[in-house]
Amino acid sequence: MDHFDYRNGRLYCEDVPLADIAEKVGTPVYVYSTATLLHHYRGVASAFAELDATVCYSVKSLGNLHILKLLADEGAGFDVVSGGELSRVLAAGGDPKKIVFAGVGKTDREIREALQAGIGWFNVESEMEFDNLARLAGELGVQARASLRVNPDVFDPRTHAYTTTGRKETKFGVDIDRAGAFFTRAAENPDVTLDGIHLHIGSPIYSAGPYVDAISKALGLIDELRRRGIEVKVLNIGGGFAADYEEGKSPSAADYARDILPLLKGKGLQLLLEPGRQIACNAGVLLTKVLYTKQGGEKKFVIVDAAMTDLIRPALYEAKHFIYPARLADGAAPPVRRFDYTPEGGEVVDIVGGVCETSDVLGAGRCLPPLGRDDLLAVFSAGAYGFVMASQYNARPRPAEVLVEGESFRVIRRRETYEDLFAAEK
Ligand code: LLP
Repeated sequence: MDHFDYRNGRLYCEDVPLADIAEKVGTPVYVYSTATLLHHYRGVASAFAELDATVCYSVKSLGNLHILKLLADEGAGFDVVSGGELSRVLAAGGDPKKIVFAGVGKTDREIREALQAGIGWFNVESEMEFDNLARLAGELGVQARASLRVNPDVFDPRTHAYTTTGRKETKFGVDIDRAGAFFTRAAENPDVTLDGIHLHIGSPIYSAGPYVDAISKALGLIDELRRRGIEVKVLNIGGGFAADYEEGKSPSAADYARDILPLLKGKGLQLLLEPGRQIACNAGVLLTKVLYTKQGGEKKFVIVDAAMTDLIRPALYEAKHFIYPARLADGAAPPVRRFDYTPEGGEVVDIVGGVCETSDVLGAGRCLPPLGRDDLLAVFSAGAYGFVMASQYNARPRPAEVLVEGESFRVIRRRETYEDLFAAEK
């Protein structure tokens, strides 16, 4: 579900024609819808409200300060994985008490900064990290609170190998059979209160089943720990909730909650979630302009001014994003959001960027109406893991970001300049 639709053949974000944004801000540009972001955030918050869940929005998916501020104002907590993300959240006015800090490689500097900020929870991922956290908390004279990231050894077969994390053989978390000993040892430590369990199975997870399996295993562990007198107060079920890359193909937050909530009712656990994609993905498009078209053997290429440097997901994960024109021919029916969509008079093309890599493809084998120079294309479902993964490879300045609200829009990150490319080299 999103707020991008066609009116009289022109693609709008809320009440703003995308062509207006391209004209004023240039291309490539990321365009986000406030209404879609809020719709999805509120969807997650209300789906799990019965258990008074804290929704810690995953900053890694889309971390622009203005987006973080929007969500902080909604009462969101935040999931951060670096000192940089922590500083973003603090700069955006996020509540430190609702911050969870995850990641297998937290540095001393990052841990100190998080302790000094008074964050809510560290998601601890190894014995050595726990000891280091305890040492630093002791040195600073503060009490740290932590959850143990447990690896439940479940996964979703549809999740790309690069983004599955819940299997035993990953660098993430601690095997569930080691968790008991971990808690016993941690209970003796005066500087860290370890009273939570953190799970994250991968991203995206296309059904509630893997969550149910992972949570059931975690509840078994919690029961066992409680029997041994170790108190577990928090269960963080991570992120990974899917978003619609193809219309109607993913469960909503309410669908996941329907299967998850019954497991957790009456368990005396504070519930945390770390959704990123489900909130940000459908809230953004990458708007790009056609530079050239050309024939290569049997293939037709449409070369655009965005590239893998702006959106790396297709090149890295063979991810598929809809790509549709921002303006349709007179009387043409709006595209349906399916990959087998075939418009009248359409031709099959590869939409590619200008980077010197064969993998620089935004969309392969897409049937689109004939395109010419300066035509605008919108790459859909690009809000999550879009701008945040952008690079300056080939010395390409990163795109601007624009936030739409109703009839107005504002630039929330200016387009980088050539000076930005080498500012740190002086
Ligand atoms: N919590 C943890 C511990 C995570 O590792 C992640 C994502 C999340 C939460 C948020 O997951 P989400 O709700 O957004 O699915 N770049 C990849 C996705 C990598 C996800 C990494 N971890 C992509 O573009 O698909």
